[in-house]
Amino acid sequence: MKQFKLFILILSSTIFTFSCAPKATLEVPEPYKNGQQYFHKVCSNCHGSDAMGKHTQAPRLIDEEYLANNFSDEDFRETILNGTEKMPSQKKNVTPDEITEIIKYLRYSQKVAGLEPEEDEPEED
Ligand code: HEC
Repeated sequence: MKQFKLFILILSSTIFTFSCAPKATLEVPEPYKNGQQYFHKVCSNCHGSDAMGKHTQAPRLIDEEYLANNFSDEDFRETILNGTEKMPSQKKNVTPDEITEIIKYLRYSQKVAGLEPEEDEPEED
C-alpha cells in the first residue's frame, strides 16, 4: 500500500511537471525576483528551468554564447520582440519593463554560474 501511494505521488508530480511551465529551482536576491518570475511565466516552457535548457527545444541561455560580449542586452530585446526563425515573437507576452527585468535576471544568473565576459583577452571566433 505504501508503495502504491508512492507510485501515485510520483505519477501525479510527473504529470504536474509536464503540464506546467518549468519552475525556478534557484533562489535569487530580491532585485532579480521579478525577472525570474517573468522568465518562468513566459520563457521557461521552451528554455527550461533557470534558463538551463535541459531537454527543451530552445537553447540554454546560461551559456558563454549569451554573455554580454557575445549577445548584448539589445540582442536579447530584439530576439524577444521579433523572435527568430525558430522562436516565435514574445511581444504579446511581455512588456518592455518585463523584458528589462528578464535580462537583468539572466545576466545575474550567468554571473552566479561563474560565467563572466572576458574583457582582457582578444576575442576568439
Ligand atoms: C515557444 C518557445 C519559446 C519561447 C516561449 C521562448 N523562446 Fe527563446 N528560443 C526558442 C527557440 C526554439 C530558440 C532557438 C532559435 C534559433 O535557433 O533560431 C530560441 C532562441 C532564443 C535566444 C537565442 C537567439 C539567438 O539568436 O541565438 C534567446 C536569447 C532567447 N531565445 C530568449 C528568450 C526569452 C528571454 C524568452 C522569454 C521572453 C524566450 N526566448 C521565449 C523558443 C522559445
